Parts: sequence; C-alpha cells; structure tokens
Amino acid sequence: MEQQKAPRIAVYPGSFDPITNGHMDIIQRASRQFDKLIVAVLNNLSKKPLFTVEERKELISSVTGHLPNVEVDSFRDLLVNYVDYRKADVIVRGIRSVTDFEYELQLASLNHQLNHNVETIFMMTNPKYSYLSSSVVKEIAYFKGDLGDLVPVEIEQALRKKYEDMPKPQ
Ligand code: PNS
Repeated sequence: MEQQKAPRIAVYPGSFDPITNGHMDIIQRASRQFDKLIVAVLNNLSKKPLFTVEERKELISSVTGHLPNVEVDSFRDLLVNYVDYRKADVIVRGIRSVTDFEYELQLASLNHQLNHNVETIFMMTNPKYSYLSSSVVKEIAYFKGDLGDLVPVEIEQALRKKYEDMPKPQ
C-alpha cells in the first residue's frame, strides 16, 4: 500500500511593512514548491511599523487571494518555535544581494542552532526587484513618488491613504 506523505508546509516570515512586488514574487514562486505556504508577519513590539500587524495581514491577504495554498498569519515568538507550532519544517527567505546573504546566513545558522529540524531555503529575488525594499517604498510614497511596478495597486492605495491621514511635520 502506498504510504501517505505528510504535507510540505513552509513559512515565509517577515515584517512586510508593507508587502512589495519583491515579496509577491517570492510568495508566488514558493507557493508552487510547497503544499502550503504560510506568510507570517512578525509582531515585533520594539519596532515602530507604518502599518499595524492587522493591517499588514489584511493587505497581504488581499493581494494573495488568488493563491489557494497561501495562508496569512502573524507570530510573536522565536521563528523556530512558530515553525514547530505550525507543523512546518521549512523557512523560506528571499535574497536580493550579497549583503542580504550575510544577514540571512546568520539568521539561518542561528535558527539551525535553535532547532536542527528546521531547514531554511533561499530563493533568489527576481533581479527586477533586487533594489526593492519596504523602506524605499515607504520613502517614495511619503514624497508622493511613482510606485509604478514596486507594489500591487492595493498596497499603493493603502500607502497613499496612510500618508494622507498622517499629520505632516511643520
Ligand atoms: O522582513 P524582515 O524584517 O527581514 O524579517 C526578519 C524576521 C522576521 C525573519 C526575523 O526578525 C525573525 O525571525 N524574528 C523572530 C525572532 C527570531 O526568531 N529571531 C531569530 C533568532 S535570534
């Protein structure tokens, strides 16, 4: 009798403040490699994000709705503990540059040290988005620059609204 294989579940963690087309590219590609991909927003109390965790989750859900095996969640724990809790065994991270690689190598090595059962898999970001980050997207939006191919339309609208509602320093 054929043995039933356990579903392959991966976690794609990050701040996603906000999600960009670089993240979208990784989500689309990673979702094809696993039975389930959990996009997990870090709920980090020490950071001052532009969007709340709930807003970020809603925004990610709104732009990944067409991917049936993608789930959106948040966590406030060590990543390896969250991965265990979700019965996943893979962490997916995107790499844009050598600078990213150095940081990611440290993160993956630490996570391996903390839990040997968790594997980190890197995906090279589409070179089209190698310069892209949530920080530059926020800066461009703040100065009302063109967000063109940098974020999905829903995210552009949310950014415009966020900065419209925000009191400007004198
Ligand atoms: O999008 P980011 O900000 O580069 O994502 C960083 C993230 C969320 C992957 C990383 O900060 C993280 O995993 N934080 C949770 C706490 C943790 O497990 N830290 C690593 C071991 S010290």
